[in-house]
Formats: sequence, C-alpha cells, structure tokens
Amino acid sequence: MEKSSSTSTTVPHFRVNHILLKKIATSLSGVHLKHLAIRFEHELLTLMGKVDVAHEWVQQDDLYVFVRHLMFQSATNSLCGRQLLRMEPTFEENFWGFDNRIMLLTSGLPRFLVREAWAVREKCLISVRRWLDVVFSENEDWDDPKTSLDVDHPAEMFRANRRFCSNLKEMDMDCHASDHLGMLWGLNANAIPLTFWTIFEVLQRGELLEEVRKEVLGSILPESRGRDVRFDIDKLCRNPLLQSIYAEAARLYVNNTHTRGLRADTQLGPWSLKRDRFVLFSTFWTQRDPTTWNTGTSADPHPVDEFWAKRFLIYPHDPMSGPLKPTSLPDRLPEQAEANIPRFSLDGLTGMWIPYGGGDSICPGRFFAKQKILFGLAFMVTLFDLELIPGWNLEMDRSQLGFGTTVPKGSAPFMIRKRNWEETRI
Ligand code: HEM
Repeated sequence: MEKSSSTSTTVPHFRVNHILLKKIATSLSGVHLKHLAIRFEHELLTLMGKVDVAHEWVQQDDLYVFVRHLMFQSATNSLCGRQLLRMEPTFEENFWGFDNRIMLLTSGLPRFLVREAWAVREKCLISVRRWLDVVFSENEDWDDPKTSLDVDHPAEMFRANRRFCSNLKEMDMDCHASDHLGMLWGLNANAIPLTFWTIFEVLQRGELLEEVRKEVLGSILPESRGRDVRFDIDKLCRNPLLQSIYAEAARLYVNNTHTRGLRADTQLGPWSLKRDRFVLFSTFWTQRDPTTWNTGTSADPHPVDEFWAKRFLIYPHDPMSGPLKPTSLPDRLPEQAEANIPRFSLDGLTGMWIPYGGGDSICPGRFFAKQKILFGLAFMVTLFDLELIPGWNLEMDRSQLGFGTTVPKGSAPFMIRKRNWEETRI
C-alpha cells in the first residue's frame, strides 16, 4: 500500500477512506455486481407482487411516493439484507427526512439553528447502529459465498467493510453507523429519484411507452410466467433506446457540484489556478450547454432543457442524429449500414455528461445504479398499466440543485392496474 502523497504523514494501513473505497468499488463490480442485481431483482419483484391493485383501474396519489417506496425497500434489502427494515420500520421515513435536510446539515449552520435536521439524522443513526449491533454480533462467517445471494444476509459491500473494520479498533460503533448511513445515502438518494424521472418521462409519451414496452419484452427471460418475471439484465443495459432514455434523464435531472483540491498549479481553459485551492464546478450547465448538445433541427427541435428520449442515439443514415450538435462534429457523412438501426453513444461527451463525476473518485455505484433504474422501469411498464392523471402538477425542486439527482416538487396522481404482459408475447 502506498502513501497518498510524498508529504502525507498517514501510514498506509490507516488510509481508511482510500482502502474502504477500493473495497466498495470491488464489491460493486464483477461477480458481486451480478449477485447484487439478482438480490435487487428478487426484492423488487416480490414487492411489486404485493402492490394492492387488480385488473381494474385504481387511483394513487403520487407516482414519486409509489416508486420511491418500492425502490427504497428493494435497494436497502438487497444491500443490507432484510434485517434493517424489519427491525426499524420507521427508517424509510426518517431516511427521506434526513435526505430532505441534507443541505441544511452540510451548510455549516450551528446545530441550534437546524435542530430538526440533526434530530432526524440522529434517528437514522440510531436505527443503523441498532441494526449493526445485531447483524454483526451474530456468529456469521462473512467469507461464506453460500450466503452471498441470500437476502437475509448483507451483500458483499457491507461484508467487505466489516472484514476490514473489525480489526480497526480506532473506529467505534458510532463511527461505523455514520459510515454505513453515508453508504445508504449513496445507494438511495440519487438512483431512486432518477428512476422516478425516467418512468415519469416515459409515461408522458404514449408512443414512447409502447416502444419501451416492446424493447423490455425482448429482455424478458423465456422461463418467465405471469407475475414471475425475470429479465436478462445485461440485455436491458445494452439496449440502445433504454440506455438513451436513462442517459437523457441523468443529463436533465442529476445536478451535482463537483469539488476538487489542486495539488499543483493548473491551467484550466482561460483560468490559472493555484495549488491547494479548491475548484467547484456544476454539472447543471455542462449538461445543458446548447452550444455543444444536439438540439434537433428547426423542423424537429429538442431544446436542452427538455427531455428527448433519443438524444443519445446515432442513426447510421442520419448525420444530424446523436448527442453532439452536428455543427460541432467534423462533417459527418451518413454511415454505411444496411439497416438504419440506432446505436447508443456517449462518444465525445467526456466532461459533458458527468452525472457520476469522473477520475479516481468517479461513483463506484454507477453500474448498479443503471441496473436498478432499468429494472425499475422494466418492471413498472411490464407488470402494470399506468396513466398519469391530466392536471398533474410536478416539477424539479430547484432548491436542491447541486446535491445530486433533483427530487420532484408537487405531485403526480396516476391510475394503475395489473397488466397481462404475456398477451403481447409472440
Ligand atoms: C443515479 C445514481 C447515482 C449518482 C448520480 C451518483 C453520483 C455520484 C457522484 C457524483 C459521486 C462523487 C464522484 C466524484 O467526486 O467525482 C458519487 C460517489 C459515490 N457513490 Fe454514487 N451515485 C449514484 C448511485 C450510487 C449507488 C447506487 C451507490 C452504491 C451502491 C453509490 C455509491 C457511491 C460511493 C460509495 C461514492 C463515494 C466515492 C468516493 O468518495 O470516492 N452511488 N456518486
């Protein structure tokens, strides 16, 4: 293990953050990611099966609250195991109360001015602490691969953390609880609102919804029957249209402020920046810059602040297609291809499409996040008929810009009923 820099006084085995992040990245990739996807799919399917709707339409008050609950329970169970939510039934509500006040908590205001925010965070910490006391005091073999698919046990991310931290006497249980709450925030706070926006944007467009259903149907595994649906997640994640919808929702709704400390004097475009200074940059503008993003044609305009499901698709016969403004490309000729089948592309978007950050500290959960979001969309449109009720009143809550995926403000009531997806299977 190396030192972080030549001037660092931290001994390598005490680089706790660095070591844990490496373990987190490993536990969210390869075989562990495969297991996590299976765990998540199982939980989401089980919960969707319990949704209290039959074949007649019923009205629900708010699509965000509906999606958020299903996704939160499935994601938390898939990562922590089911014990946390079983033991702590109020954790979900407190978690969103905490998320809602995250700006206050990080604003630097003295505690007495933001008591409510501290109180709700404390409730979350107490829940996590109680769960940790139980789950990790059990006589468990944390290396046993036989339990890695069993949702009654934590997933590899928490197991790896445990293996490392159990030898680290400097971290007490309060410290572990804070660390775990941070991970749970990373797991849920961005991907869940983004799943909602993805579904919400599709539901507003009847034709797109039918296209999505057709693509999703092609990823259902042959053994699926009735409510027991299984997806080929790799196929879902490679599907050009679904990827484009996901990338477009992230472009519009993930608004981060990235921070970097400078280790050396740096020239960034026209700016000369000094060593040891901090740089902040917002993804809001880069992801909406009309001079670089493709905004369609005068006959078919697609402004940067509007959702365009096919913005990230390149059609071989159409040089005007793709995410980049055609004028910012060297004259692109139609590609040689027999069929005009589109492909998904992020080419040329380095530094422009950055919902997950970049460089060494790029989000390690980005692969799982994409799987979660596409599972969420796929299950919703397959198992249910859904219609937004006209007059819905919902927009992006701009008061939280800069803190990841923006949550919605207002509500979107909707109609829902069970769907016989098998009737559309050929
Ligand atoms: C749409 C969903 C998500 C978005 C937009 C997102 C975004 C981000 C961003 C912008 C960062 C900071 C990167 C940087 O500084 O350059 C980050 C870090 C992180 N994310 Fe995510 N994330 C998402 C989902 C997830 C999920 C599902 C997990 C866990 C399962 C996760 C775990 C983490 C962790 C552990 C870090 C800390 C990395 C570090 O400090 O180096 N994220 N995420």
